[in-house]
Amino acid sequence: YVIGIDLGTGSVKALLVDQEGKVRCETSRSYSLQHEQPGYSEQEPEAWVNQTVDGLRALVQESGVEPKDIEGISFSGQMHGLVLLNEQGQVLRPAILWNDTRTTAQCRTIESKLGPRLYHITKNAALEGFTLPKIMWVQEHEPEVFRKAAVFLLPKDYLRYRLTGKLHMDISDAAGTLLLDVMQKQWSQEICDAFGIDMSLCPQLAESLEFVGCLLPEIADRTGLSPDTKVYAGGADNACGAVGAGILKKGDALCSIGTSGVILSYEDQEKDFAGNIHFFNHSRPGGYYAMGVTLAAGYSLDWLKKTIAAGESYDAFLAKVSEVPAGAGGLLFTPYLVGERTPHADSVIRGSFIGLDGSHRREHLVRAVMEGITFSLNESVGLLREAGVEVGTIVSIGGGAKNEVWLQMQADIFQAPVVKLTSEQGPALGAAMLAAVGCGWFGSIAECAERFVGYERQFEPDPQRAAVYQDLFGIYQSVYASTRDLNR
Ligand code: XUL
Repeated sequence: YVIGIDLGTGSVKALLVDQEGKVRCETSRSYSLQHEQPGYSEQEPEAWVNQTVDGLRALVQESGVEPKDIEGISFSGQMHGLVLLNEQGQVLRPAILWNDTRTTAQCRTIESKLGPRLYHITKNAALEGFTLPKIMWVQEHEPEVFRKAAVFLLPKDYLRYRLTGKLHMDISDAAGTLLLDVMQKQWSQEICDAFGIDMSLCPQLAESLEFVGCLLPEIADRTGLSPDTKVYAGGADNACGAVGAGILKKGDALCSIGTSGVILSYEDQEKDFAGNIHFFNHSRPGGYYAMGVTLAAGYSLDWLKKTIAAGESYDAFLAKVSEVPAGAGGLLFTPYLVGERTPHADSVIRGSFIGLDGSHRREHLVRAVMEGITFSLNESVGLLREAGVEVGTIVSIGGGAKNEVWLQMQADIFQAPVVKLTSEQGPALGAAMLAAVGCGWFGSIAECAERFVGYERQFEPDPQRAAVYQDLFGIYQSVYASTRDLNR
């Protein structure tokens, strides 16, 4: 057996997977987010460790599997979050997470200091969510903390450090820091120098499949796992999501709708997206992926449900959506509840309902929100296509793949076939696959995917609905500019 751990934003999920790729047991433990001020989003790294240890202990117990038969563990995790450690390896302040937007000023400083060099080296633009602006924020606002900082880590790298005692950052996650030379796969001296960051703050890099050590005896004791369990570096949650959905070669694309939403395509070489879309290293050695992000995807639907149908099941909430035709009876929604990442990189913009009619019912609102989220993701699909990516079949995962109306809507709006997986476990399965390949069960991640990942059903775009959506999408795209100044 192997274990895949996904350290998410709201919870940590652990999967016990056998050699056939079947999930034998699964646990999940949640933790909270702190929003001390508007735009702030922080978490206590100690909570990640405690909840993971607790989840692992339950996983071992509930599965009834012999601990010595669990050969390897690997990790997936929320990207970009800053964990600062002192010389003794102790956490200096709560982690500042990917969805924290306090760093707009630092992003402007990065742009003005580095100009085109930033994109040249990192392949990405300066965005509030990324790690470098968070380091600079601490430098400026908490100099006494920064003086004590000996190394920085990302969330799942800190968790791995606590489980093994070994300090590393994996390359797919390091790509989201704005400190990595993405093509050279090494830390950028030039960027560190530009912002007074000592290179020693950057941890040793590891490939996703790399063996980094075994579990600490104390952790083995607390979890019931064997101290001989091998630990592999793992990857960013989006890289692991891609692995777990079999997005492993040119032409493969993924749509993932969780709290945030993601469209990504596998890339096998450097490609110019002019910073409009993220470009990160994949967990498959030598691979990359291009990605656009909708900040409030599932979050928007959760918000609506909480607001108008709290306490109801999701099935009941979505039940009547199929009765409303494409276009939601003229109702349009923009999902900018917490700002928007791709394509606008704007943390201030807010969402809208436009076209309300006295005859609209609750299901019109629900359908409009689902369509608005999908339109936002379609902006990323459009950017990929504009850059010359041939978006073939799109594998859909997450909450958006749980509902057939939504899957069909994705096919109609993206104008591409959309595929649902037989058993979908998201990034945690990707992490388990990295452990399975690390343990030598398979010669490559692609070989592992042949066994572990299966397609259940394909949704083809309907030409009529696609035409309706194409017209609406034009209106959707014009709403941003006209609502920009609402709350500035
Ligand atoms: C990616 C991003 C999010 C987090 C969520 O750039 O910020 O998708 O990885 O965990």
